[in-house]
Amino acid sequence: MSTGTSELSAHAAGVDITGLRKSYGSNEVLKGIDLNVAPGEVVCLIGPSGSGKSTLLRCVNLLEQPNGGTIMVGGFNVTDPEVNLDKMRQQVGMVFQQFNLFPHLTVLENCTISPIKVLKRKKAEAQKVALRNLERVGLGDFGDRYPDQLSGGQQQRVAIARALSMEPTLMLFDEPTSALDPETVGEVLSIMKNLAQAGMTMLVVTHEMAFAKEVADRVFFMDGGVVVEEGKAVDVIGNPQQPRTQDFLRRVLDPTHVDI
Ligand SMILES: Nc1ncnc2c1ncn2[C@@H]1O[C@H](COP(=O)(O)OP(=O)(O)OP(=O)(O)O)[C@@H](O)[C@H]1O
Ligand SMILES: [Mg+2]
Repeated sequence: MSTGTSELSAHAAGVDITGLRKSYGSNEVLKGIDLNVAPGEVVCLIGPSGSGKSTLLRCVNLLEQPNGGTIMVGGFNVTDPEVNLDKMRQQVGMVFQQFNLFPHLTVLENCTISPIKVLKRKKAEAQKVALRNLERVGLGDFGDRYPDQLSGGQQQRVAIARALSMEPTLMLFDEPTSALDPETVGEVLSIMKNLAQAGMTMLVVTHEMAFAKEVADRVFFMDGGVVVEEGKAVDVIGNPQQPRTQDFLRRVLDPTHVDI
C-alpha cells in the first residue's frame, strides 16, 4: 500500500457545524457557531484565550456534549443522540497541547494499543501500520523508546503517528506546538504541513500565524463564543477587516508591544 497522497485523501471527511451552542452552567461559551471544513481542507481556528476554541474542538469528537446545533463529520451526524460514540471517535484523530502519550508504553505500543483494542487489529498488522506512520513523522527507528526518552517535539510527532494509526478521516489539533521548546516547533509544523499536503482534513487551533497563513485554506477568528471573522488565510491574517481581529493579531504578532 502506498503512503502517499491518495491513501489519506481517499478517506478524508468534511465537517459541517451549524448553530453550535455549549454552556457550562450559566456561562454560554459557544453562542451559535457555524463552521465547515471541506474534505481535504485545512482550517485554522484562532482567537484569544477563553474564546471557546478548545470547547469547539472537544464538541466535534464529543469529549463535550453540545447544548444545541448540529455537527456532521463525513455526512455522519455526531450530535444524533443515537450516535455510536466509539465508531465516531475512530474517525476523528485528536492531538493535544500536552501530547498525552502513555508513559509506560513504548512508542510502538502507544501507536498500536488502540488499533488492537478498539479496531481489533492483529498485532502484526497494527505494528505495520504504526511503523508506516512513525516513518511518516520521521521516527521509524524510535519504536522501542519510551516517551520520557524523547524531546517534546518527538513526543508530539509520536502523538500524531498514534492518531494516524487509527486511520482517521479528520484530524483535530489543539495548540499542538504551544508546549514545545521553540527549536522543536518547526519539526511538528512541518509534519502537519506534510499531512495537509497529503489531503488530510484538518481543523487546527493555533497561535502560529505564519503556519496558518501558509498552510490553512481558511481561517476562523473566534472571540467571546462567536465567529467574528472568517475567510481565506491570507485575507484574515494579512488584511483583517474586523477591529477585534485586528487587535488580536496585533497582540499575537507583536507580543512585546505595549500601548502607551
Ligand atoms: N469543563 C469546563 N467547565 C466549566 N467551564 C469551562 C470548562 N471548559 C472550559 N470552560 C470555560 O469555557 C470558556 C472557553 O474555554 P476554552 O478552553 O474553550 O477556551 P480557549 O479558546 O481554548 O482558550 P485558550 O486559548 O486559553 O486555550 C472559558 O471561559 C473556560 O473557563
Ligand atoms: Mg484552548
